[in-house]
Amino acid sequence: MVDLGWGNEKASKFVTNVGLITTDGPDGPDIMAAEWTYYVSWSPALITVHLSGGKAGKATARNIVASEEFGVSIAAEGQNVLSSIAGGSHGADVDKMAVIKEMGFEFYKGKHIKPMLVKGAAINAECHLKEIVEVGDHTMFIGEVMEIEAHADKKPLAYSFGKYYGLGEQIQKPEQDVLDKIEQLKAKHAKKK
Ligand SMILES: Cc1cc2nc3c(=O)[nH]c(=O)nc-3n(C[C@H](O)[C@H](O)[C@H](O)COP(=O)(O)O)c2cc1C
Repeated sequence: MVDLGWGNEKASKFVTNVGLITTDGPDGPDIMAAEWTYYVSWSPALITVHLSGGKAGKATARNIVASEEFGVSIAAEGQNVLSSIAGGSHGADVDKMAVIKEMGFEFYKGKHIKPMLVKGAAINAECHLKEIVEVGDHTMFIGEVMEIEAHADKKPLAYSFGKYYGLGEQIQKPEQDVLDKIEQLKAKHAKKK
């Protein structure tokens, strides 16, 4: 069995967003950073968040289990400090929302859920819990999106192997002559039916 535990170099080429997951429940208003935040279905629109520690491990998990809702704010460039606070301590020990506010960041109230959302994020989504699924050593919280806003002027923060990045230059799709060549090869290797 292969172990790709935290910090394993073989996982170093994965690039993700940073989801700032906001919740409100028995542990009080809370926020955590989750690089394993994915958009997995168009209709219904579903976002998954994958947490270590099981259903009772993290304050975020306990809050979602109890309240059946959570906010997903996709961190924008410039929110790396906020992400480090959200991911750097446990909601059971520290009121991270208060720390983040004192660092000058702001939250706002959404339309459908109690947890606040992060102002200035690249995307803000309000989710109702649809299902909890155990996936290997992580617990997947599947949220149905009730409301979502994307902010064209905000670029998402990228995260890879423990480091933050900005999105670089756009890489162009293949030129027409390369596309023509691909079409010729597809015709040559078409499967007979
Ligand atoms: C950038 C970043 C990404 C993280 N991604 C995840 C993740 O995807 N899943 C996870 O379980 N923990 C992740 N963490 C760790 C949690 O944010 C951390 O355990 C946090 O203290 C949990 O907060 P809570 O106890 O208030 O829920 C990440 C931390 C950072 C800094």
